[in-house]
Amino acid sequence: MRYGTGMAASPRFNPLLRAGKPQGMASSAVGTAAPVFRPGLEGVPATQSAICDIDGLQGKLTYRGYEVGSLATNSSFLETAYLLIWGELPTAAELQAFESEVQMHRRVSFRIRDMMKSFPSGGHPMDALQASAASLGLFYSRRALDSPDYIAAAVVRLIAKIPTMVAAFQLIRKGQDPIQPRDDLAYAANFLYMLTEREPDPLAARIFDACLILHAEHSLNASTFSARVTASTLTDPYAVVASAVGTLAGPLHGGANEDVLEMLEQIGTEDQVEPWLDRAIAQKQKIMGFGHREYKVKDPRAVILQKLAEELFDQFGHDPLYDLARKLESVAAERLGPKGIYPNVDFYSGLVYRKLGIPEDLFTPLFAIARTAGWLAHWKEQLGANRIYRPTQIYTGHAERQWVPQGAR
Ligand code: ACO
Repeated sequence: MRYGTGMAASPRFNPLLRAGKPQGMASSAVGTAAPVFRPGLEGVPATQSAICDIDGLQGKLTYRGYEVGSLATNSSFLETAYLLIWGELPTAAELQAFESEVQMHRRVSFRIRDMMKSFPSGGHPMDALQASAASLGLFYSRRALDSPDYIAAAVVRLIAKIPTMVAAFQLIRKGQDPIQPRDDLAYAANFLYMLTEREPDPLAARIFDACLILHAEHSLNASTFSARVTASTLTDPYAVVASAVGTLAGPLHGGANEDVLEMLEQIGTEDQVEPWLDRAIAQKQKIMGFGHREYKVKDPRAVILQKLAEELFDQFGHDPLYDLARKLESVAAERLGPKGIYPNVDFYSGLVYRKLGIPEDLFTPLFAIARTAGWLAHWKEQLGANRIYRPTQIYTGHAERQWVPQGAR
C-alpha cells in the first residue's frame, strides 16, 4: 500500500485517540441543543446538487437523470463531460465545437514539461499530477469567476490538459521526452497513444472511453467534497482540481484500484481465496475494492466494468487474475454480503487497465482524468450558489489554562 501515515499512533498526534470529551475539558458548543457529531459526515447533506444521483439500495447511478450504463454504451466521455458540466446532452454542433476546443488545448507548455522533468522519477504519478494541475494556475491566473467565457475556457483547458500531463510524466519518468497529442485521434485513443506511443486498437480505445464515463462523477465523495470546499473560497479552478486530485489519491478512495491487483496477486491462487479472506476478516482488514458508503449492493459501475473486462479478455486473451477475482467476489458475498459489502468500482477496473497494458500506479491518475469532469461540474454548480464552507466542531481540548514558563514545564 502506498500511503501510510508514517506516524506512530501517539495520543498527541492521533486525533482518533482524542475522540470523546476527557474530564476537565471544555466544550465550545453554543445554544441548548447539543450538536451531533457524525464521523465522516455520514448521512449529513453538505450541499444541494442536480448533477448525479445514487440509489445505493437498487444499485442505480444517474448523471443528470441518465443512467450510467446507457451513457457507457451510447455516449462518449467528452459528450458525458459536457452533459455533467453544462446540464444537457449537447447537440451535434455543440459537441463538435466542444471536441475541437478540447483538441486545440491538449498541448501543455514546455515550461510545465520542463518542470515535470525535475520531478523525482520514483515519485507517484498522482503527486506529479497534483503538482502539474496546480501549476496551471500560474499560467492562466485570471480569476474571472463571474465570466462565462472564463469558466468555459477553464473547463476546456483542464479536460484537455490533465491527460496530457499524466502521459507526459509516464514518459518523462522512463527518461523519454513526452510526445505531442495527435489531432486525428479522439480523446481516449489519443491518451492511450500519448501513453504507449502506439495507436490503440479501436476496441481498447472504446473500452477505455467507457471506463472514463463510468468514473466521471459520483456525487459528494471525498474528492468532490474537497473540490467544492476549495471552490467555495473562490480560488481558481486549477487549485480546485489540484485539491481534489490530492484527495482522490488516498487508498480509501481512488487509490484502492492499485491495491486491488496487489491484493489479488498476494492471494495467488483460487484455492487460497477462502483461507485468505477468513484471515483478513478475522484480522479486521479492509478488503480492497469492496464496500461503499452509498451502495449496499454491488456497485453498478463494477457490474459494467466486469462486462468490459470480459470483452477485453475475449479479444486479447484471458487473465487468470480475473478468475481469482470472481472467486473472491463469490466467497465475499457469503461472508460480507449480509453487511451490505460488495464490490465497488475499483474491484474490476484494475483488471481492465492491466489488460490495456497500463502500469498499476497510473490507475488512480486515470480515475482523475475522468473525475475532472465531475469536479468541474461541481465547481460550476458551487459558483452558481456559493457560500463558503465553514462547518463547526465539537471542541474536546483543554479548558483555558495559564501559560507555563519553559523552566517550569
Ligand atoms: N472489507 C471488510 N470490511 C469492510 C469493508 C471492506 N472493504 N468495508 C467496510 N467494511 C466493514 C467495516 O469493517 C465496518 O464493520 P463493523 O461495523 O463491524 O466495524 C463496516 O463495514 C462499516 O465500514 P466503514 O469503514 O465504517 O464504512 P465506510 O462507509 O466509512 O467506508 C469505504 C467506505 C471507505 C469505501 C470502505 O468500505 C473501505 O475502506 N473499502 C475498502 C477501500 C476501497 O475499496 N475504497 C474504494 C471505495 S470506491 C471509491 O472511492 C472510488
